[in-house]
Amino acid sequence: MRILKLFDVARNVSNCVIRRNFVRNFEPFINMWRILILSNCFLLILAGDGGTRMARFSPIDPSSFSRPDLAVVTNIKLSLKVHFDQKIFSGNCDLTVKKLHENVNEVVLDVKDLDIESIYETETNTKCKYTLSQPVGEFGSELAIEIPPKEVNNYIFTINYKTRPHASGLQWLEPEQTAGKKHPYVFSQFQAIHARSFLPCQDTPYVKTKYEALINAPTDLSVVMSAIRDATKPMIGYNLHHFKQDVPIQSYLIAIAIGALESRKIGPRSTVWAEKEFIEMAANEFANTEKQLKTAEDICGPYVWGIYDLLVLPPSFPFGGMENPCLTFVTPTLLAGDRSLANVVAHEIAHSWTGNLVTNANFEHFWLNEGFTVFIERKILGRLESPQVQDFDAYGGTVELKEAIKVMGSNNPLTNLVVNLTGVHPDDAFSRVPYEKGQTFLRYLENTVGGPAVFEPFLRKYFDTYKYRSLTTDEFKAFFIEYFSSTPEIKNIEWNKWLHTPGMPPVIPDYDKTLLKTIDEMKQRWLNWDEKSGPVPFSGDEITSIQKIQLLQDIFESEPQPIKKLEVLEEKFKFTEVQNAEIKFRWLRIGIKAKWEKIVDPALNWVNEVGRMKYCRPLYRDFYNWEEMRAKAIQNFQDNRKNMMHVSAYTIAHDLRLKE
Ligand code: BES
Ligand code: ZN
Repeated sequence: MRILKLFDVARNVSNCVIRRNFVRNFEPFINMWRILILSNCFLLILAGDGGTRMARFSPIDPSSFSRPDLAVVTNIKLSLKVHFDQKIFSGNCDLTVKKLHENVNEVVLDVKDLDIESIYETETNTKCKYTLSQPVGEFGSELAIEIPPKEVNNYIFTINYKTRPHASGLQWLEPEQTAGKKHPYVFSQFQAIHARSFLPCQDTPYVKTKYEALINAPTDLSVVMSAIRDATKPMIGYNLHHFKQDVPIQSYLIAIAIGALESRKIGPRSTVWAEKEFIEMAANEFANTEKQLKTAEDICGPYVWGIYDLLVLPPSFPFGGMENPCLTFVTPTLLAGDRSLANVVAHEIAHSWTGNLVTNANFEHFWLNEGFTVFIERKILGRLESPQVQDFDAYGGTVELKEAIKVMGSNNPLTNLVVNLTGVHPDDAFSRVPYEKGQTFLRYLENTVGGPAVFEPFLRKYFDTYKYRSLTTDEFKAFFIEYFSSTPEIKNIEWNKWLHTPGMPPVIPDYDKTLLKTIDEMKQRWLNWDEKSGPVPFSGDEITSIQKIQLLQDIFESEPQPIKKLEVLEEKFKFTEVQNAEIKFRWLRIGIKAKWEKIVDPALNWVNEVGRMKYCRPLYRDFYNWEEMRAKAIQNFQDNRKNMMHVSAYTIAHDLRLKE
């Protein structure tokens, strides 16, 4: 009883607990760290190397050490030089800080692998004392800066620092790792908590600030950021690029890429950026961006970010897309040639409201970002294509949700819509659950209150009320209940089941199945066919790319397929070489499930080239489950991990049960 209470208090106080993968693996104590319970209020961490330092997680965000409840950062100015030879950025960061209580004497920030050289309070020109805690696993360290005495409560701290070559939020590419092979490249990916490896900051979505950046880069390279370009000044031997983001944003939305880039205008407020080898394809693939933006505005309200540009990254980019404001980052695997994967752009556009304007207070409420975004993404699809396509996609989402929950275990608390991230790194908690369970919940709420005609005005009101703010699930719930207080049906909503219970959602909405009929029928034809009874029982022309994806998904979920049949299919459709990554991905999985040895090398070559976790993680998992191939896949991963971004290498190492 007493121990339980101790743990409870410890969790509530949110002090340090290292439980990476605790829930998944039930391994509460990781060798490197010893957790010492000192009293009902404190957990003290002893670092493996013996140095002691109390690092405390924030009471408002279990993934941050920062204390914006005591002194909050209100503006960021970066002034950095890129050094490709050393794979670092160096320079300074000016943080405007507002003290919120009279007796507060420090501002607390997050840092990870930063070399801090000095800190000054600029207005009084005082050199500041600071303490840096021992790093806490993958969370980084707490940086506490003493606030010098002053009449007013506003300060500007200038922090002189350098990043490190292995910064978890940055990926440095040698020229030979780029398409052009001549110039180096660096790009960032800060969500969820990697901004702290680029700048000292309050790395929690609870805090939103404007930012400005002055970047010193070689003259032959372009610099792009998640902000509006103000000016580029040619200097002797380098260029100075100035950017401004005047809408307050959370730290993970700061973004940068530097490389040999070209640009093409693709709409009145949109330019696509890419290496020149991809630029034409990209301009063509994303030609419907403005249409998608207008549709999103129609659903959500005015677009506040001015421009909407796209950057096509090198293949090692770990995500499909990242909603960096003014400049969405996308994987080159979207370049299918037929615009069939542009839903990812619709998704990132939707984040301009859900996530970027209205934001989860911390990553326990991640579904407020992603569930809403998938819901809006599908509304855009519904308006631009048809309601049948919208529901077809939603059905596909349910299938993905089932697979995710199967892999994680249906009692896994990380399959709750609202999760407990005390001691769990957000990268370890990441899954399809907040996306698809969240979307399902919103569709259920929409149906419950009377459909889109009633729900969409509510959504606009919600965005308008919470814009430029961060909120928790309880705040959303209260807002919903208040708005629909005269709708009796809301009494039937089982909030606790939806929000705080693991496993599949309590209700799966009745989606339109029109487009599924052809697929079901084709799947049956395929299952009943064998190679001796004539040619493959379909031409492939009778269905669209997205239906092909679903057909292959359905075949993948069936029993392992006979290799002979797969050989005939490959001969006809050449799926292994196909450009559409979603099709190729499913085809490779079908092959691995059938233990088809011929597919092994193409699959391993592909995961070496493409760092998108949506593809690499399941493929590596599939290889892990194929015992004869496990060692080969692990060797392949070990050989290639140096080319992967930190987050991909880190999560795949876990999936392959490798010790860090
Ligand atoms: N914001 C996410 C990517 C992300 C989430 C990065 C959490 C780091 C931590 C982005 O909007 C996203 O969801 N991308 C999806 C696109 C898909 C759902 C259409 C992806 O990368 O697959
Ligand atoms: Zn998203």
